[in-house]
Amino acid sequence: MTAKSIALSIVLSTMTSLSIASNKLSSVQPQAKADNMVVVSIGADVMKEMSVAKKKSLSVVSLDAATKDNTNDVRIIKLPSNQIEALSAYVHKTHHRCGGFIWHESEEAALKYTKNLKALQPKALVEYTIDNEETTEVLLNKVVASNLTETVQNMGAYNNRYYTQDSGVQASEWLKSHWESIADGREDISVELYQHSNWIQPSVIVTIPGTDLADEVVVVGGHLDSINQSNPSTGRAPGYDDNASGIAVVTETLRAIVQSGYQPQRTVKLMGYAAEEVGLRGSGDIASDYLSNGVDVVGVAQFDMSGYKGTADKDIVFITDFTNAAQNQFMKDLMDHYFPELEYGDSVCGYGCSDHASWHNRGIPASFPFESEFDDYNRDIHSTVDNHFEPNHSVNFLRLSIAYVSELAKGTEGAFDYQSRSTIEFSEASQSINEGQSISVLVTRSGMLDESAQVNYRTVDGTAVGGEDYESASGILQWPANDSTVRNIRISSLNLNEDKEFTIELYEVGGNGELGEKSTLAVRMINESVSTVEFEVSELTLDESSSRTIVIKRLGDFDQEARVSYQAVNGTAIAGTDYQAVSGSLRWEAGDQADKTIEVTTFAVNSDKTFTIDLRNVGGNAVIGDVAEVAVSIIDKDSPEPEEPDNNNGGNSGGGVLFIVSLLLLTVGLRRRRR
Ligand code: BES
Ligand code: ZN
Repeated sequence: MTAKSIALSIVLSTMTSLSIASNKLSSVQPQAKADNMVVVSIGADVMKEMSVAKKKSLSVVSLDAATKDNTNDVRIIKLPSNQIEALSAYVHKTHHRCGGFIWHESEEAALKYTKNLKALQPKALVEYTIDNEETTEVLLNKVVASNLTETVQNMGAYNNRYYTQDSGVQASEWLKSHWESIADGREDISVELYQHSNWIQPSVIVTIPGTDLADEVVVVGGHLDSINQSNPSTGRAPGYDDNASGIAVVTETLRAIVQSGYQPQRTVKLMGYAAEEVGLRGSGDIASDYLSNGVDVVGVAQFDMSGYKGTADKDIVFITDFTNAAQNQFMKDLMDHYFPELEYGDSVCGYGCSDHASWHNRGIPASFPFESEFDDYNRDIHSTVDNHFEPNHSVNFLRLSIAYVSELAKGTEGAFDYQSRSTIEFSEASQSINEGQSISVLVTRSGMLDESAQVNYRTVDGTAVGGEDYESASGILQWPANDSTVRNIRISSLNLNEDKEFTIELYEVGGNGELGEKSTLAVRMINESVSTVEFEVSELTLDESSSRTIVIKRLGDFDQEARVSYQAVNGTAIAGTDYQAVSGSLRWEAGDQADKTIEVTTFAVNSDKTFTIDLRNVGGNAVIGDVAEVAVSIIDKDSPEPEEPDNNNGGNSGGGVLFIVSLLLLTVGLRRRRR
């Protein structure tokens, strides 16, 4: 790609013999039909240098008459759609630039477009002011750079996000559900798939309706598709930098908006455009649609490539061509005002290199803050190795995006009654339990913890029946605000004569809780009796230089033999120095259900110390129970008792007693001397 200008406008037109219905059919798979002709407006320089033989082999038909009277360096040509890739390869080879084509709806539209290219005057639709600091700061405080990476990795996991591929459609669908889950709890925010008529990959659009200037729209977007230049349809194209990195910026802009309960005055639309890599087609469709339907877009920010710092001394570079100078200046003012520590500069693409051009070419103010100077752009894009991402570079674009939204759409934070949510669910989807055994089932809470939450649970019979095969259980679990500790439910098996199953369910959540995916847990009951071995206590405190007996119990089934070993593990206390090393094994004969004991002996210590003893290596029909470990604390007896706080009135404190004792001693001493 050189900075030289190219504008390839491709117009998909069908042969006149095609009916409207078949036109619609062909729209699903445009490349599949051989009789589709496309009309392309292409850089005049390219056409001038193309040999007659090449034109012939590409079946190019010049429509020079149509463009003769316009003053642009653009020519309109016609060629079969199946020659497009060959044309793209030719431009790439001879002019060292990528495609650079712009798709229009009709031949007429292309003509209108090329004629208007020069006539387009950037018009300032809005006044740019910077005075919404309080809200901007609240939004900026929600920024977490590492969240950017999650989106990039998820988008990059699709083989490619090419506009004709199922994986390209799936990436759009994933993005829609990702944005929906972030917007969860904000009933005013909607997420839609924007379907295009000529290919299968949809664009994705989030709408945050404005409070009192809802008709005026601020757009923040980036393209969601990716391409492998040498094998577009099936080649691997992780597209981390180009452009999962821009989608991540848009995603985190949404998260900041949702988390701060921000409500803009103007409507904000966040967009993931389809089919950018094949001629800005997704954004072109949307911009045309909005224009013809009178949607008043007051400004557009494009984020395409934010995760590679190609120019060492620049954090953000503003692309000055195909963008609006006044809005670019506004963005620079935002940088000076909010992020004075960041370095920025200017650069040019030389052609409409991304979706900003779709808006700019239709008269709408657009800006394109880019990751580096054009000459330093990431050479890994459009290949299998576009799989690097620097969140700490990308986060600067997120900050700018937030400041742009806050100062252009204005509005305030916290106005919306944003509902915080925490997710309550089981830690596992299923668990098994042996005959006679007891197990713990864990319930977790995650998400927003600023309120309390609770949930009910109950066991539900399957083939296993409560009271006969297992002990029924039900109750309520509660978490106060800021508590996310795990809760456990005890489940005990009774006698079985065959394998059975039942479930435990969570229901009726309260507070800010909502049920997660694992709201039921399947319990498999195995008709094989086991005996549980475990410590009687989980904690033990004993003085230095003393001994104590620890009990290990055998529960459940006794008809077989059971074995278990035990072993001390150093903590701050060291075996041999602070306590007598303990390890060994225990064995119960079939029918033996007696407790077993082990002896613990401590030595002198110079401060309080701890170690643990655990159970391991079970044998026979034994399983280790819940109390698999005992924590032992050794108390240093010589260490001073913690001091009482100072007490002026003497009262009943130790100091008072000491005072009286010394007085007595003094009197005795004086009497002795007098003698
Ligand atoms: N992200 C690129 C644009 C880009 C690349 C900007 C390098 C600056 C430096 C975009 O996805 C892209 O590849 N655009 C095409 C043009 C488009 C009209 C098909 C390109 O640059 O060839
Ligand atoms: Zn690209």
